[in-house]
Amino acid sequence: MITALRHAAQLVGAHPPGVASLRGERLRDPAVIPDGALIIEGERVAWVGPSADLPPLPADAQVQDVPGMVVLPGLVDSHTHLLFAGERLDEFEQRLGGLTYQEIGARGGGIQSTVRRVRAASRERLKELARPRLARSLAFGVTTVEVKSGYGLSPVDELKCLQAVADLNDEGPVELVPTFLGAHAVPPEFAADRAGYVRLLCDDMLPEVARCGLARFCDVFCETGVFGLDESERILRRAAGLGLGLKLHADELTPLGGAELAARLGAVSADHLLCVTEAGIDALARSGTVATLLPGTAFFLGVEFAPARRLIERGALVALASDCNPGTCPTENLPLVGAMACARMGMLPGEVVNALTLNAAAALGQAERLGSLTPGKQADLVLCSGADHRQLFYHFGVNHVWRVFKRGRVVHTAATPALPR
Ligand code: NIG
Ligand code: FE
Repeated sequence: MITALRHAAQLVGAHPPGVASLRGERLRDPAVIPDGALIIEGERVAWVGPSADLPPLPADAQVQDVPGMVVLPGLVDSHTHLLFAGERLDEFEQRLGGLTYQEIGARGGGIQSTVRRVRAASRERLKELARPRLARSLAFGVTTVEVKSGYGLSPVDELKCLQAVADLNDEGPVELVPTFLGAHAVPPEFAADRAGYVRLLCDDMLPEVARCGLARFCDVFCETGVFGLDESERILRRAAGLGLGLKLHADELTPLGGAELAARLGAVSADHLLCVTEAGIDALARSGTVATLLPGTAFFLGVEFAPARRLIERGALVALASDCNPGTCPTENLPLVGAMACARMGMLPGEVVNALTLNAAAALGQAERLGSLTPGKQADLVLCSGADHRQLFYHFGVNHVWRVFKRGRVVHTAATPALPR
């Protein structure tokens, strides 16, 4: 089956084959083809170029003209906690009343309150709750979502969560990339024996997750009062030994040195980085570890944004993701996260496009297959109304997405027609 899209106002993210990630000044170039065309063959992009150069097509090819549309690679949300039960509206209001996220956590709220709700929910119920979130992500142009466990914190509940993620991935159309985050917090039954929980993670939970093939990555919340640098290193080294890729919640609330640890261990990404130090920036800049920034979290917590400009200018690989979770960032709106990156972190629209697509795919170790409109890659595409990709972050808070393709098939069309310009 061959489909061709012609006369798009812009094709964006049309990087040449072999570009695996972008850093420094190269991050700025969104690789735009004006009046662009694209051929999809089965699940793959077969050809990309100016409409004037479109090669002859077989008689049964489906050809669609899309003037007034910008075509982008499907967005990749490379950091979410979107499998959860229960909203945390009371905590939202307590924070507005002056309590900090950490103070709420110390009173048994925060992550632990979601853990109670997730433990009480069945695998089916968790899936029911996650489906509308995934549908909203898709409607905002997201075709691949990393989803972390981390609200079960026991062998049976963590496996339940990862199995739910595997089921949802099988359902499609959004592709889910599972990450084991058993080290998200110390569960209450181990409050007096944190070493015992680290042992349980290393000796029991991680080997079981690896044996069942239920996670591609292992992540740790490396933070003052959660898991320290030594504990994080021990857990991640064990995960690496079992064949899992590594991710790290690094320097989110305090400057603990998580960025340096992630770079030293060759993690695929170091995420958050609100409090990253100069040494941490240097370590990331010298590494292949992707600095994944989550501006929605800084926005929602009302704290300083991550130093995106310094990271980019010093040469670190930078990606953007939502962090969708019930405590620190309850949104699936990834283009809005991009608008925050522009308005509050000084990122340029071209940098944001690449940080939400190619570099986000790199943060999942999937850049050879996802993240750009490149012949041979999976045909995951978003069609947005407008003549210029910068609209997506300039006209913020509205949904510009008209249609989404996953693996070469239309999987979403907006109920209301494209935004008139
Ligand atoms: O990325 N930092 C740890 N985890 C989440 C918050 C989880 C929660 O509060 O439920 C985060 O911010
Ligand atoms: Fe997170």
